[in-house]
Amino acid sequence: MRVRMSRRTAIPVVAMVLAGSLAACGQEAKGGSRYHPDSAKDNTIGIAMPTKSSERWILDGENMAGQFEKAGYKTDLQYGDNKVENQVAQLENMIAKGYRLLVIAAIDGRALTDVLGRAHDAGIRVISYDRLILGTPYVDYYASFDNERCGRVEGQYIVDKLRLGKPDKNAEKKYNIELFAGSPDDNNTKYFWNGSMKVLKPYLDSGQLVVRSRQTRLNQTEILRWDGGTAQKRMDDLLTKNYGEQDVDAVLSPYDGLSIGILSALKSAGYGTKGHPLPIVTGSDAELASVKSIIRGEQTQTVFKDTRKLAKVAVQMGNAMLTGKKPEVNNTTDYDNGKRVVPAYLLTPGSVDRSNTDLLVRTGYFKKGQLS
Ligand code: GAL
Repeated sequence: MRVRMSRRTAIPVVAMVLAGSLAACGQEAKGGSRYHPDSAKDNTIGIAMPTKSSERWILDGENMAGQFEKAGYKTDLQYGDNKVENQVAQLENMIAKGYRLLVIAAIDGRALTDVLGRAHDAGIRVISYDRLILGTPYVDYYASFDNERCGRVEGQYIVDKLRLGKPDKNAEKKYNIELFAGSPDDNNTKYFWNGSMKVLKPYLDSGQLVVRSRQTRLNQTEILRWDGGTAQKRMDDLLTKNYGEQDVDAVLSPYDGLSIGILSALKSAGYGTKGHPLPIVTGSDAELASVKSIIRGEQTQTVFKDTRKLAKVAVQMGNAMLTGKKPEVNNTTDYDNGKRVVPAYLLTPGSVDRSNTDLLVRTGYFKKGQLS
């Protein structure tokens, strides 16, 4: 049985060990909370986000910090630069400072078992943000989008756009598709993949969709840490080896950052002209660069995940926990992290293509001027 130390006992020990690593790991901090023993009793929420290289996490972090502060909390927002050891060190420091709650979008969902054991010992509550943290019972709640649905939305977009299964002149036509998946250390990856495959599989099985590279398994299509450059290289390679004579008609991409890399490879290979149009390229997150690309007619679609709403869910959960109330959840069955089924609140994502980018302006997600 785990011995539950009081915060008073736990903090100074951990703080001494970790005081040095705080400066060493080059954190990007917001909120200005320096370590101070008295802060152990303060009202700070530690927010650990994976990277600033993707706009969405910047918005997620800012939205959460703003909303928690409005609700009367202090915040300490940290970005791990996509390095697991940075994120672990940042969390260790947050524990050492005696924060009340950690909200974490994990870089590697399996790498936080030890550090969350220490958070638990210190009586700190944990919300898993967007990505489910695996292999530890010490995750209180999960706030995310319906990840399987995100994948389905992307797959269905391709099916509809190619008019697969429609009784018209295209009914017999075969289309070439290539498949991309997310990072193998992100639990969302398999949900996205399963959702997309649910929709695409009948057409892959019937042969109406053809993957010329034959890379149809999840582990052949994953892109470590969702890196756009890696996606670009893979797409370059797929085009060189498989598309000498034929064109690719659709590319399944689960994230805008990958889609940008994929589009660069396609354009380098001569796609994107009147005579040689780009294939359908999906995405997700409605990041500004991709929305502009959609408006220009390059990327075809993205999945809109309103980070303001996700932040609101996390703040609702955190505030409820810290005031002795029960957070609102809408899923208590599907998100088993290997140690417990984590109660979740899942938001519904929407599809955005050239026909409805104004939705992003109408809902105030972007200003009109940003999209032109
Ligand atoms: C996933 C998230 C996606 C995308 C990706 C890369 O965890 O669900 O929407 O943001 O990370 O950042």
